[in-house]
Amino acid sequence: MSTEWSWVYEGYDPAEERLREALCTLGNGYFATRGAAPEAEADDHHYPGTYAAGCYDRLRSVVAGHQVENEDMVNLPNWLPLRFRISERSGSGPAADWWSPDQPGLLKYRQSLDLKAGSLARDLLWEDAAGRRLRVGQQRLVHMGQPHLAALRTTFTAENWSGALDVEAELDATVTNSGVARYRELSGHHLTSLEAGEAADDVVWVRCRTRNSCITVAQAARLRCSAGEGSLMRPGPRSEGRALQCLTLPLRSGVSVHVDKTVAMFMSGDRGISDPLSAATEAASRAPGFPELVVSHHRAWRHLWQRAHLDVPGITGRILRLHLFHILQTLSPHTAGLDVGVPARGLHGEAYRGHVFWDELFVLPYFNLHFPEVSKALLNYRHRRLPAARRNAAEAGHTGAMFPWQSGSDGREETQTLHLNPRSHRWLPDRSRLQHHVGSAIAYNVWRYAETTGDREFLHTNGAEMLLEIARFWSGLAEYDPAHERYRIRGVMGPDEYHEAYPDSERPGVDDNAYTNVTASWVLTRALELVGRLPHPRRDHLFADMALTDEELARWEDVSRRLRIPFHRGVIDQFDGYHLLAELDWERYRARYGEIRRLDRLLEAEGDTVNRYQVSKQADVLMLGYLFSPAELAAVFHRLGYRLDDETWDRTVDFYLPRTSHGSTLSGLVHGWLLSRERRPDAWHYMQEALLGDVADVQGGTTPEGIHLGAMGGTLDLVQRGLAGLEVRDDTLHVDPAPIPELCTYGFAVRFREHWGVSVQMRGDILKVSLPLSERSPLRFSVRGRAVTVPPGETCTISLGGPAGN
Ligand code: BGC
Repeated sequence: MSTEWSWVYEGYDPAEERLREALCTLGNGYFATRGAAPEAEADDHHYPGTYAAGCYDRLRSVVAGHQVENEDMVNLPNWLPLRFRISERSGSGPAADWWSPDQPGLLKYRQSLDLKAGSLARDLLWEDAAGRRLRVGQQRLVHMGQPHLAALRTTFTAENWSGALDVEAELDATVTNSGVARYRELSGHHLTSLEAGEAADDVVWVRCRTRNSCITVAQAARLRCSAGEGSLMRPGPRSEGRALQCLTLPLRSGVSVHVDKTVAMFMSGDRGISDPLSAATEAASRAPGFPELVVSHHRAWRHLWQRAHLDVPGITGRILRLHLFHILQTLSPHTAGLDVGVPARGLHGEAYRGHVFWDELFVLPYFNLHFPEVSKALLNYRHRRLPAARRNAAEAGHTGAMFPWQSGSDGREETQTLHLNPRSHRWLPDRSRLQHHVGSAIAYNVWRYAETTGDREFLHTNGAEMLLEIARFWSGLAEYDPAHERYRIRGVMGPDEYHEAYPDSERPGVDDNAYTNVTASWVLTRALELVGRLPHPRRDHLFADMALTDEELARWEDVSRRLRIPFHRGVIDQFDGYHLLAELDWERYRARYGEIRRLDRLLEAEGDTVNRYQVSKQADVLMLGYLFSPAELAAVFHRLGYRLDDETWDRTVDFYLPRTSHGSTLSGLVHGWLLSRERRPDAWHYMQEALLGDVADVQGGTTPEGIHLGAMGGTLDLVQRGLAGLEVRDDTLHVDPAPIPELCTYGFAVRFREHWGVSVQMRGDILKVSLPLSERSPLRFSVRGRAVTVPPGETCTISLGGPAGN
């Protein structure tokens, strides 16, 4: 039975296996391994995958007569394999096949993910044709404290027989990237120069390198068992890239025997090593035994859970904790020492090839108030790719920095030029690289990170360089149109990926996307504000380095005030002419297809195009309400010379709600967030969409290919920033709760500046904020504009009607 801290899957269902593998992935920010069965090889139901943060490789393929190049997050050697079978030495004739759950005789099968301990267990009971029962317990971890280590303990118990068991353990570097059916026509052989060998009696290794990025990867495995005398260990037959260890275990009825596989993985980019192979073999040889590894691994997780304390009752709380678990496995404090971004699908599968989109927009707000060092590292991933973004802009004839819609190793645009519609099996041009709004997301994150943490050093250096270059990009892209007496940004795509051109137009993109223009104006305004605040020598250096002039700043000012935002009948138009598009007959499509989230694919397969319709894949205009408070948003519109009052915004929300198909997990999240802040009754419906996105694989088959990190991060932000209304402005922590009936009891801890353990609790309309005694100074914060102080060791209780005293 699942509990607050565990996810339990009873029984074995091959059809569900890939989903479980993604949801049972274990990782530590450096690398992660899907929760695949150790005896499984990649096939229709199983996909063992191991991925390291930032380990990419580029390959060429030919599809539909075109040569395309793709950079993938590489599937690394599989360290999991461990097979067993009742040995021929057991006297009942020749050895059987290696055991698999697909064989008959499976009496019990259970997997459980322990979130507190960071481990995955599997328990099974199997009976062979001769009636011999074998119980197998497995526990695995990917060490959170020592990020190069992983371990798998297998415990065998012969229940009603005695005899011998054959066990084979392997490291397998012959794997490919083949986890996503849509990509199968693309090359996936990233690993080359495969080698294997032995380092000691009980330690074997594999080494390989990625084909074009030339990253050397080494894994070493130590195999030990508790059977002592009588167990026979022999190296297996050699084959290229596979290191095999074979063991024959004597089993006595009722006596359990452990087999421990301890694995170390290193890559050529790692710090503090001589070479990956010697680092891996030494680490595997010297690693403590399994019980000690469990203790140190638990300790590391305990520390993480303290910093990420979250307490929400019921199933909602369990899902949120699962989300947090997967986020921390993808982006952990180890990430702070790496050069990596936020992979949209975690380190949990190969969808979107491990690329980095704008999804950090949904993840950083959470990290800023818990692990600011990780936020900073993620922003520095972008900063290191600022030269590439400048190059991208220059090559496209623009100024400033044009960050790629999909980013990988070096910051070039990684978005594919063709994508496959799995419904029609047609390869189609992909124009999603026109989503230049990713630049605003980066600028927004820079600003919010600095606002939350007070890290002026970052804001005035790397942060300023990014913010000003993105502002310069927007200013350059904006063209003055005398007909409207406004600046216009033309030929872009907004967050709604359904509109990549006007119907029947050859010209890519749409014009005056409201989301793009509002965020561009916000970026320009923040850039001007920052320039005004920079300490003088720094300002001078930046002006000199960027060749910034007062004339350019004057243009930024002008553009920030005069970008065009289209309106139609008192509603913000998603882009110029959106209201002229045809209305879709939603009922007809629902009746015909049932599931219509991916209307783009359905319509294309019918020979139609979604470009023709007033249909959005996900929140576009409404994203503005997710990023900005009503007052902030009204201020941006005011600066632009438009009036955005509550009625206009409400009309806009009402207009887009029924026109959105929620073909992205981000959509339910944004709508849930927005409607809960507005206290609308259907908020919970959308919040549930976001909560169930991965655990119930709401998008139908996408989670098995990798979790949705943005939506997961967003659900945590939904509690913290959405429901509790936690924000930092003017160096002050503000709390402005907006509880909804379905979720009005929750608690969490945040780190705000020097206060590491600020605890926030909501019970109905009672808010409690406390500070541990170990804190050195009182916390000053504000509740709905009222200043409050909590001294260390005390709790401040506030009824949302008025203070109830300390
Ligand atoms: C969404 C994008 C998102 C991407 C990666 C797409 O389906 O439309 O907004 O960035 O997935 O998560």
